Amino acid sequence: MHHSIEIEHLSFAYPDGHPALRDVTLRIAPCEKAALVGPNGAGKSTLMLHLNGILSGKGVIRVSGMELNPQNLGRVRSQVGLVFQSPDDQLFSPTVFDDVAFGPLYQGCPPDEVRARVDEALAAVHMSEYARRVSHHLSVGEKKRIAIATVLSMKPELLVLDEPTAGLDPRARRSLIRLLDELPLTMLVSTHDMLLVRELFPRTIIMDEGSIVADGPTAELMSNTALLEAHGLEMP
Ligand SMILES: Nc1ncnc2c1ncn2[C@@H]1O[C@H](COP(=O)(O)OP(=O)(O)OP(=O)(O)O)[C@@H](O)[C@H]1O
Ligand SMILES: [Mg+2]
Repeated sequence: MHHSIEIEHLSFAYPDGHPALRDVTLRIAPCEKAALVGPNGAGKSTLMLHLNGILSGKGVIRVSGMELNPQNLGRVRSQVGLVFQSPDDQLFSPTVFDDVAFGPLYQGCPPDEVRARVDEALAAVHMSEYARRVSHHLSVGEKKRIAIATVLSMKPELLVLDEPTAGLDPRARRSLIRLLDELPLTMLVSTHDMLLVRELFPRTIIMDEGSIVADGPTAELMSNTALLEAHGLEMP
C-alpha cells in the first residue's frame, strides 16, 4: 500500500542561499491527520509549497505513490488541495464563484458539475451567500474560508493547509474544525493554534530551522514541556 505523502531527504535553499529545508524525511499514511508546528521561519510553508511542485528542492516527493516530477505535475496538483498561508495568493478571479469554480473547470468538469461543486464547497465553509461577491474585497477571515473552498471544490485526496485558522473568528474556527474532523482525507496542517492541534490531530510533527526535530503522537509531544520550550512552542 502507498503512503499518501512520502518525502525523502528533501533539502531546499531559497535563491538568496538561505537553507530553508534540511534533509526532511516524512511519510503520511492515507487518511492520517498530522499537524505541522514550529516557530516562525521553521520551514513549514516552504515544505508545503513543495507538495504540489510550486517549489522544488533536492530529494524525492511522492503523492499517492506517484513521484512528483514535471511529467505528472498536473495529476499531482489535482490530488493535493493546498491552501496557502496568505489567501491573497489563492484568490485571483473577479468573483468568489469564479475562484471556487477554477479548479473543477481546470479539471474539465461539465458546467452542472462545476456549479454543484461550488455550491457544496461554499456550503462547507458557510459562505453560500458570497458566490457573487468580489473576492479581493472580502475580509481576511472571509478570504481564508473562500481559499479553503477553492481546494474543496477540486475534491482532492489530500489537504495541505497552511495556518487554516489564522484570522478566523471563534465561530468560523469552530466550524472549520468540525469540517476538517469530518472530512475523511489525508491532512497535513501547519498551525500555531496548539488547541487545534490537540483537538484534531493524533500526530504532530515539529519543525525547527528547516529540520524535523520531533514526530509522534500529539499527546506525548504535548506533555513534553522541555521539548516544546526548546522549539518555541507552548500549550496555552
Ligand atoms: N522567498 C524567500 N526568499 C528567501 N528566504 C525565504 C523566502 N521565503 C521564506 N524564506 C525563509 O525561509 C525560512 C522558512 O520560511 P517559511 O515561510 O517556510 O517558515 P514557516 O515555518 O512557514 O514560518 P511561519 O510560522 O512564520 O509561517 C525563513 O527563514 C524565511 O525567512
Ligand atoms: Mg508559514
